[in-house]
Amino acid sequence: MSDLADLVTRAARVFPGGVLGNHRGESDLGFIVKEGRGAYLWDVRGTRYLDYLLGSGPMLLGHAHPAVVEAVQRQLGRGSTYMLLNEPVIELAEEIVRAVACAEQVRFTTSGTDATFMALRVARAYRGRDKIMKFEGGFHGVHDYGLMSVSPRSPKAFPAPMPDSAGIPHVVEGEVLIAPYNDLATTEALIAQYQHELAAVIIEPYQRVIVPVAGFLGGLRDVTRRYDIPLIFDEIVTGFRLAYGGAQEYYGVIPDLACYGKVVAGGFPLGAVAGPERIMRHFDPSLEGTRDFVVQQGTLNGNPIAAVAGLATLAELRKPGTYERLHRMGTRVRAGLAAAAARHGVVAQITGEPPVFDAIFTDRPITDYRATLSADGAKIRRFNEECLRRGLVKAVNKIYVSLAHTDADIDQTLEIFDQVMVTLART
Ligand SMILES: Cc1ncc(COP(=O)(O)O)c(C=O)c1O
Repeated sequence: MSDLADLVTRAARVFPGGVLGNHRGESDLGFIVKEGRGAYLWDVRGTRYLDYLLGSGPMLLGHAHPAVVEAVQRQLGRGSTYMLLNEPVIELAEEIVRAVACAEQVRFTTSGTDATFMALRVARAYRGRDKIMKFEGGFHGVHDYGLMSVSPRSPKAFPAPMPDSAGIPHVVEGEVLIAPYNDLATTEALIAQYQHELAAVIIEPYQRVIVPVAGFLGGLRDVTRRYDIPLIFDEIVTGFRLAYGGAQEYYGVIPDLACYGKVVAGGFPLGAVAGPERIMRHFDPSLEGTRDFVVQQGTLNGNPIAAVAGLATLAELRKPGTYERLHRMGTRVRAGLAAAAARHGVVAQITGEPPVFDAIFTDRPITDYRATLSADGAKIRRFNEECLRRGLVKAVNKIYVSLAHTDADIDQTLEIFDQVMVTLART
C-alpha cells in the first residue's frame, strides 16, 4: 500500500469521518500534507501544490518563513510555555495596541473561537445583559453562541436563530438574535426593538467573502453607539490581512471590541480580544469576588512561542509596500479567475477583497447570505476538486492569497483556473 493510501486508511480508523473536522472530506482525492514551504505544499507522495488555503489563513507570509522559523527556534531553547507574563507576549500586546484603533488593552486566548466567546462574555458583563446579535451567515468559531444561523438551509424570519450543530442547549437560542448582513434598515429596527436586552452586536466586518455595502458598517456603528451596545468586530480573518490595522482601518469604522487569531500568531495557537479599558477592566482579577469580574484563563494563553511567531510575522508585514503588493497580487488572481469564468461561459460571481475572495456559482450578486443559497453547490465542490487535481489547494469557500506567491506562481494559477473553467463549462 502506498504511504498515502495507508495514511488515509489509518486516519479513517482514528478520526470520525477520517478527517480533523476542519474539512468535510468532500473530495475523493486523499490529501495528506508532508511539508509546506513558501507558497507551496507537498503531499506525502511528493507532489507539489500551490497553496491558497494557507492553513485557513494564518500563513500570510507563506510556510516556514525564515524570520518566523528563526524566532521560534530561538524561543524554543528558552522554554515552550510558562503560564506567566513573559517579554514576547507583552510586546505582542503592545504591537496590537499600536496597530488596532479600538485597542487599549488585550487579552490573549488560544484560538479564534475562544476570543469571540470571551469578547461576548466581557460585553455581557459590561452591559449586565444576556442577549447578543449576530448576522446570518457570519462565522465566529464553534462555541454555542457562534454556531447560530451560520449556514441555515432554509432560514427563518429575522431575528430567530437556527443552531448549526447538534448538542447546543436550546436555551442558547433564546439569547441570540440574527440580523441580515448589509441590510441596515432591518438591523437598525431590530436593535431598536431589543435595545434594552442586547449586550453586544458581533459581526465579521467583511463577512466570509461578502463585501460590506457603502454605509452599512458606519450605520451599524451609529446605531450601536446610540443605544450604547458594544459593537464587536470579528477580525480573525481580516486582522493584519485587509490592512495592518485590519478591517477597522480598511473600512474606516472603529468598533468597541475586536477579536484576533490566524495571522496575529503566525501559524501558532493564539487568539486575542482587544478593546478599551472601560470594557476590558472586567477581566481584571482585582475585581474577583464582585459581580463585575469576568473569568478568563487558559493554560496556553500568552504562550511565548506563538507570541514570537506573531511578532516576527507582524514585523515582516510592517515592511513598506507589503499591503500594496498583497492587494496587487490578489487583484491579479481575482481578475484572472473572473476572466477565466467569462471566457468559458461559466456563470459565477467572483466576490470579495483582493487578499481573500472566492467564486460563487450563481447569477445573483452576492450581498448577503441568502444570495449565496442560489449558488450551485455541486459546482463549488467540483471547482475545489478540479483545482486540487491540477495542483492548487484552496479553502472550501475561500481563496487566500499569500505574500509568498510570485508572479510566476500567479501565471500558473491562472492557467489552472482556465483549465478548471473548461471542465466546469461542460457540467
Ligand atoms: C471570522 C472567524 N471567526 C472565528 C474563527 C474561529 O477561529 P479558530 O478556528 O481559531 O477557533 C474563524 C475561523 O476560521 C473565522 O474565520
